Amino acid sequence: MDKFVIQGGNRLVGRVKISGAKNGSLALMPATLLAPGTYHLKNTPNLRDVWTMSRLMNSLGAFCELNGNELFIDTTNITSFEAPYEHVKKMRASFYVLGPLVSRYGYAKVSMPGGCAWGPRPVDLHLKGLEKLGAEISLESGYVVAKAERLIGNRFHFDVSSVGATGNLLMAASLAKGTSLLTNAATEPEITALARFLVKMGAKIDGIGTPQLEIEGVDSLHPADEITIPDRIETATYLIAAAITGGKLELENTNPYHLTAVIAKLEEAGCDIDVNADKISIEMNGKPKPVDITATIYPGFPTDVQSQWTALMLAAEGTSKITDTIYPDRFKHVPELIRLGANVEVVDNSAIVQGGRKLSGATVMASDLRAGASLVLAALIAEGTTEVLRVYHIDRGYENFEQRLQSIGANIKRVKTDLV
Ligand code: EPZ
Repeated sequence: MDKFVIQGGNRLVGRVKISGAKNGSLALMPATLLAPGTYHLKNTPNLRDVWTMSRLMNSLGAFCELNGNELFIDTTNITSFEAPYEHVKKMRASFYVLGPLVSRYGYAKVSMPGGCAWGPRPVDLHLKGLEKLGAEISLESGYVVAKAERLIGNRFHFDVSSVGATGNLLMAASLAKGTSLLTNAATEPEITALARFLVKMGAKIDGIGTPQLEIEGVDSLHPADEITIPDRIETATYLIAAAITGGKLELENTNPYHLTAVIAKLEEAGCDIDVNADKISIEMNGKPKPVDITATIYPGFPTDVQSQWTALMLAAEGTSKITDTIYPDRFKHVPELIRLGANVEVVDNSAIVQGGRKLSGATVMASDLRAGASLVLAALIAEGTTEVLRVYHIDRGYENFEQRLQSIGANIKRVKTDLV
């Protein structure tokens, strides 16, 4: 296991090249199951979740090879239609193979992700949607089994906006017989990018970028190459790293228009920000102001940035409230921040921060990738040494995290440890 050892107090200054979007790649990769052939997915982030998805797809008979940030996939010979628990338990996004497999091959057996179909982080919308398209769905010993001669286009309304369910149904409907209309669909940039990729593959989709997606099913699709969009969550994380340390950063190879809510809140907190096509410059003089945020669906403030924002608010003189309407219990980072000396109280689906207190280094533990990122951000301003354990969580979604932070002045190193 690895840990990060961080000495707080350094101001971050310099330039960071942002990677391709983890959640973009995790949608594009399973889409290649819809048409046999070879694909070149450029700007793919070289990180754990992509390796996990590659292993899962290779177990289905695909051939995935990642050279740096160039991902080559060959789906000519898919020989298995089962996504075993060993893969899905590591990464919920493995569930994305369900739609493509049942739509292209008429059969899929995919392990349930953590929790049950209707429990925490449910998949009921994925299943109800596929049933609406004519799939026969059964639950067998922790697995979802989906069967269909051929899916039939239909209407489906998402009770709640779901990125994963929208992705699964978009892919499934692309090869269905007839037209489908998905309403209250997710509009996150990664879904828009998936839709555009499917169109490149020959799919017929209207309403791309809106919550109303109309898909006219086709009999077959063909391979296509794609450039993965920049990672908006990684971008937000480095912007907050600049803000929390009173630093000055230039982020390249990003898309500022994918995180307008975060940029607006950072400006409200006192940051100077300039944007142009693929760059964002940020400078923070002094301490941030306390600013409340409410995490909601796109284009609102992303739930994947609320823990990082909580870290930032530790540096702000005053009280701030961080609410998550997507995952009401996504506050496992709070007890760890308190170990650093923070004053944060969780009330229902909000964290109330009394900012401006001095933070002191301690040993803390990452519980998921965004919580881990928030602990690193807080460690950057904690006095003394902080050790962040279980950095494998962070490695899931941040490429070369410590190297990039070192390159802009952070005192951080990766150390092997027996502590888990
Ligand atoms: C995606 O997860 C992202 N993962 C998550 O990013 C992100 O936090 C989440 O969207 C919300 O933006 C990937 O893209 C791989 P959802 P997903 O389905 O698709 C409820 C990260 O940090 N829901 O949009 O699993 C669900 O309980 C990860 O990179 C149902 O009720 O999220 C939640 O409250 C963490 N039934 C809400 O919808 C369903 O069938 C949003 O979930 C599905 C979801």
